Amino acid sequence: MRARIVGTGSFLPEYRMSNFELSELVETSDEWITSRTGIKERRIAKELTVSDMAANACIRALENASVTPEQVDLIIVATSSPDYFFPNCASIVQKKIGACNAACFDLSAACSGFIAALSTAAAYAEAGIYSNILVVGSEKMSSLVDWKDRSTCILFGDGAGACVVGRRASGDGAEIISGDFHNDGNNNDVLTAEKSGFIHMDGQAVFKFAVKKVPETIKHLLEEEGVQTQDVKYYILHQANIRIIESVAKRLEINASESGKAQNEYVKTVMEKFPSNLQKYGNTSSASIPILLDELNRENKLHPGDLLVFAGFGAGLSWGSMLVRW
Ligand code: UT7
Repeated sequence: MRARIVGTGSFLPEYRMSNFELSELVETSDEWITSRTGIKERRIAKELTVSDMAANACIRALENASVTPEQVDLIIVATSSPDYFFPNCASIVQKKIGACNAACFDLSAACSGFIAALSTAAAYAEAGIYSNILVVGSEKMSSLVDWKDRSTCILFGDGAGACVVGRRASGDGAEIISGDFHNDGNNNDVLTAEKSGFIHMDGQAVFKFAVKKVPETIKHLLEEEGVQTQDVKYYILHQANIRIIESVAKRLEINASESGKAQNEYVKTVMEKFPSNLQKYGNTSSASIPILLDELNRENKLHPGDLLVFAGFGAGLSWGSMLVRW
């Protein structure tokens, strides 16, 4: 029996805020935002709460997994924007979905939150402590940004993604093979959100940290498992900035060369391994990886045996990756 992902779900609020709408709030432009980040629009939760979005994503994940709410024995919500300090968001989700038998806690690891929550769930399932665990990333980043600060408000969006991690026999779900997780508290001041305050970020420092540490953790993870970079079907990275994703792709030195392939063909082949949806949603922090995973799953892009790498990075500073066989 191993820890396996047996279902996925996601929820995005309806309201779309375009770069054009943002350019009426702060001095910016669609051209600047698109060229520096890749983002075209983001969803805004408005009156919806983090627990509302999380509950919707959970209901979809449970349906996808054919698991009933009563069968859930643990809910972990990764979030930096919970409804309350307490009760935790997981307890509110428990009530909203009727998961009356579940233990509940939230986990705070900012944009690495889903990686931290998934590895925690995998450890519980491997140890035989819990059999059906809801792992959720849900964020209302619109409540944390200063809408007068053009250097941060253009980046973020709201949404939730979830998966069900089960303790299952071979052949039932996607095997969670291993993970790698790190933190550098000495540099925690480059990305902060104060209590009752706003996000402050040294964008360039975060950028440099991400493009160095994300390839490092992925290379380490793959080396440990004896997997070549080109054998991974998809790298599902935290969706912060398309330039970060492109830079990580380059630094992984993926050998996609059937020899003689032109440079532009090579780049295209490599980038097909790095799906992205940040164009539509911006940076949804802990929700970005499970939202993208759910989209790929529902578009039938994931096939049995496909190797997937998830990688997150963010405040802490924290970074980590996980290897999964679909
Ligand atoms: O989940 C992790 C969370 N954080 C991240 O992933 C952020 C990582 N960092 C980044 O993605 C990039 O650093 C940003 C997108 C935040 C910024 O891009 P950049 O290429 O590093 O731009 P910059 O900060 O160096 O700013 C360049 C210029 C500055 O003007 P001057 O000083 O050159 O005159 C900024 O004032 O662009 C200006 N600027 C803007 N202009 C138009 C900054 N924000 C904007 C804006 N619109 N929204």
